[in-house]
Amino acid sequence: MKVGVLGSGDVAKVLAGGFLKHGHEVMMGTRSPEKLADWATQNPTGRVGSFADAAEFADLVVLAVKGGAAADAVRAAGEVNLTGKCVIDATNPIADTAPTNGVLKFFTNLEESLMERLQREFQSVRFVKAFNSVGSIHMVNPQFKGGKPTMFICGNDEGAKKVVAGVMDQFGWETADMGKAEAARAIEPLCMLWCIPGFLRNEWSHAFKLLT
Ligand SMILES: NC(=O)c1ccc[n+]([C@@H]2O[C@H](COP(=O)([O-])OP(=O)(O)OC[C@H]3O[C@@H](n4cnc5c(N)ncnc54)[C@H](OP(=O)(O)O)[C@@H]3O)[C@@H](O)[C@H]2O)c1
Repeated sequence: MKVGVLGSGDVAKVLAGGFLKHGHEVMMGTRSPEKLADWATQNPTGRVGSFADAAEFADLVVLAVKGGAAADAVRAAGEVNLTGKCVIDATNPIADTAPTNGVLKFFTNLEESLMERLQREFQSVRFVKAFNSVGSIHMVNPQFKGGKPTMFICGNDEGAKKVVAGVMDQFGWETADMGKAEAARAIEPLCMLWCIPGFLRNEWSHAFKLLT
């Protein structure tokens, strides 16, 4: 696939590297291409452009920007360039205030997730929540003693979720489909839970697994 990765941070770089590793074509999108100069040197087959360039290039898009800037980034990418496309939403709605006893603060609430806000504003885009509940270093083919971890996903479009489940297979994850966009109200806070051992005990090497 042609994959457009919107973002220039750790998540964007790790996922872009994962897609290249698995044989996809990748263009990263950013407001500041100079931030990705080192990435471009290390990944000569990858491309760098604006948010709109990456969105237009892509069959599949990854949204990996600061949560508070997610809507602005999608606007800059241009809904016209994203219409009908699957957008993997890796963002979390983390507020700018400090965590309390290791618990992050969100700017959303339990009746409205960030992905629902995006889906409501950009109705022609097929958003799928994924990759938000684990640290970036574990996103691509993670190795845990406990076996393959579970990625919780959700979104309104069944076809888009099938595409994302295929990505999860390649990236070494089991997929647990939690249903429609509203399930992001539960999946986004997994980020809070995932981060607590990190903030309290500097433990960042874990992932979730759904046992049945
Ligand atoms: N770090 C992790 O391990 C991890 C794990 C799971 C999920 N997440 C989530 O993944 C997302 C990315 O995290 P990150 O740590 O890689 O990066 P980050 O520091 O949260 O975000 C950096 C990105 O946000 C963009 N951005 C910031 N302000 C913007 C604005 N006003 N308009 C448009 N874009 C703006 C930047 O765009 P430019 O490139 O144009 O500067 C940059 O690409 C976040 O939502 C985070 O919560 C992070």
